Parts: sequence; structure tokens; C-alpha cells
Amino acid sequence: HVESDLDLDQTLFTEDQIIERLQEIAREVEADYEGRDLLLVGVLKGAVMVMADLARSFDRHVEMDWMAVSSYGSGTTSSGVVRILKDLDADISGRHVLIVEDIIDTGLTLSWLVTNLRSRGPASVEIATLLRKPDALQMEVDVKYVGFDIPNAFVVGYGLDYAERYRNLRSIGTLAPHVYS
Ligand code: PRP
Ligand code: MN
Ligand code: MG
Repeated sequence: HVESDLDLDQTLFTEDQIIERLQEIAREVEADYEGRDLLLVGVLKGAVMVMADLARSFDRHVEMDWMAVSSYGSGTTSSGVVRILKDLDADISGRHVLIVEDIIDTGLTLSWLVTNLRSRGPASVEIATLLRKPDALQMEVDVKYVGFDIPNAFVVGYGLDYAERYRNLRSIGTLAPHVYS
């Protein structure tokens, strides 16, 4: 046990549950993209663990690229204004792009990102996210692959942070209120 376990209220998903779900999604993606090239675009930093486990679940060639974006606004709420901190290395024109995310909360990050990537002339842009919160359903973000729908709680681990901490936990859990209140 690491010290940060004490900061968690309850485990939502174990590492095994996460990996099993990502393998199911990989099978779906393989069927949907049969015969086409596939570029996975991970959104730093939260999506690092999802990307690592999803990418290794494929029994086919995939490429990986990364973007880092930052939404302006106070730490815990999104403003909808996004700026690029690190852009893709790849030219995505004519390519099939699958954005890989850890979580969709308000949906603002992804709705901006999809619009941005579509403007670059790709063959397609779709989204795979491990987690989705209820508020995301209010946004017009068409998400093709969702690992788990979760309640509106503060979740950390497996890439998800609170003030840059807890990303390295293997499981996903709810953060105990004493940590942020
Ligand atoms: C988090 C998360 C998603 C985004 C979801 O990233 O990883 O990328 O917020 O929120 P939204 O749906 O309300 O836009 P964050 O901006 O915290 O950066 P990080 O990935 O580096 O933690
Ligand atoms: Mn993120
Ligand atoms: Mg974060």
C-alpha cells in the first residue's frame, strides 16, 4: 500500500477491470477499422495509461501521437477555451484518427479538439474514452467508444490527477473529500 491509498474513498475500477474493458474496445476498433490505417492520438497527460494499455491490446499495426492542451480557467472547472501546449507531430490529412482520452467530464476539451482536428482534413476523427461523466451527455460530442459511464464524483488514478497527484495509481477511485475540502 502506498500512502496515497489513504486519500481514496473507494475503488471504482481495478487495474484488471480496466484492462479487460480496454481489450473489449480494442476488438471493436479492430473490426471497425479493418483494412484502414489507424492513428491513435493521446491527450496528455491524463490519457497516458489508457493509451499504453489500449495500444498494447491491438493485434494490428497502430501509430501513436500526442497532443497536450490546456483549458483556461480555475483548476477544477473548464472554461471551454483551449490552447495547444504541444501539437501533433503527424500530418493527419487523409488519415483515420482515434482520439484516446481518460475521461470526458464537461466535454469541452474534446468538443474543441474534435473541431480542431477535423479542420486538418483527416479521413475520420473518432473518440475513445475510458470514462464518461453525466455532464458530458449535455455536449454535442459524439463518442464512439466509452469504457465506463461513472457518477459525478471526483475520480483519480490510472492517469487521472488531482493537482498532478495520484496519476500513478493502478486503479481508479474516488478521492476522499478531506483531500480537497
Ligand atoms: C482532464 C482529463 C480530460 C479533461 C476532461 O484533463 O484528462 O482531458 O480534463 O475535462 P472536460 O471534459 O471537462 O473538458 P486536464 O485538463 O486536467 O489535463 P491532464 O490530462 O493533464 O490532467
Ligand atoms: Mn486530460
Ligand atoms: Mg487533470
